[in-house]
Amino acid sequence: MDTPASNAPNEAPAIGLRAIEKWFGDRAHPVHALAPTDLDVPAGELLVLLGPSGCGKTTMLRMMGGLLEPTAGELTIEDQALWNGGERQGEALSELGMVFQDANLFPWLTIEENIALPLELKGVGKAQRLARARELTKLVGISGFEKRWPKELSGGMRQRAAIARALSYDPKILLMDEPFGALDAMTRDQMNLELQRIWQATKKTIVLVTHSISEAVFLADRIVLLSPRPGRIDTIVDVPMARPRSLDVQATPEFQTIARTLRHRLNEIS
Ligand SMILES: Nc1ncnc2c1ncn2[C@@H]1O[C@H](COP(=O)(O)OP(=O)(O)OP(=O)(O)O)[C@@H](O)[C@H]1O
Ligand SMILES: [Mg+2]
Repeated sequence: MDTPASNAPNEAPAIGLRAIEKWFGDRAHPVHALAPTDLDVPAGELLVLLGPSGCGKTTMLRMMGGLLEPTAGELTIEDQALWNGGERQGEALSELGMVFQDANLFPWLTIEENIALPLELKGVGKAQRLARARELTKLVGISGFEKRWPKELSGGMRQRAAIARALSYDPKILLMDEPFGALDAMTRDQMNLELQRIWQATKKTIVLVTHSISEAVFLADRIVLLSPRPGRIDTIVDVPMARPRSLDVQATPEFQTIARTLRHRLNEIS
């Protein structure tokens, strides 16, 4: 375990949090969801947020994604402020793609129409956006399903489509909130492998929230463990195992040592 890594001088982190804080509720019933938090996510990193239920993982991710305004502090995407006087900055937003626990595909649109929808909203022409959708279905491993309806796909395939949709406008950063939490264990393992492959192929910066220690250790370059009430960074754990990692890495002493350390600490803070 160590303290947050500092970046090389003059290189802006993909995501920078400076004393970012969040309160919910009103004066009578305030909820301190996140205590002032500093964190740098360097470009290209796969960072995992782990912690007990209610510790503020989603809150932190939604602030990074521009969906929730911080109560205080500064949040930067590359070298631009994401929030400025209560206004979200469009340029910073266009570097962000989000994936949630449910794929949230529109049932009345085909898979390729769902994937291409963000491009349609940006005014990209039909031929160009469908070409991009085809490229992305290939990347996420669902080519051949472009003309199908969401209900015709399995849960894992729908999450692949959701990842493709988040990548449609080629953001540099992908924010994922328990993206595989609703999947069975085998599909989840498969999706972890696939996400590692997609991350290595696209060189995106990824911040992923999970409840699963093994998913965290398998995927992460670094794991940020949050403690609850109010949420704050408890520890940051480096995961130095070589890439690409196969599922067999889970049986190695190195993996198990990191997982055990995290499990003990989670029990202490929960
Ligand atoms: N819109 C809201 N209004 C009031 N309180 C909220 C709101 N959203 C979150 N909270 C509170 O903020 C705290 C952090 O919630 P958050 O959803 O970020 O936790 P989490 O770590 O994502 O939990 P889980 O693992 O269960 O998804 C919780 O105490 C929650 O009840
Ligand atoms: Mg959550």
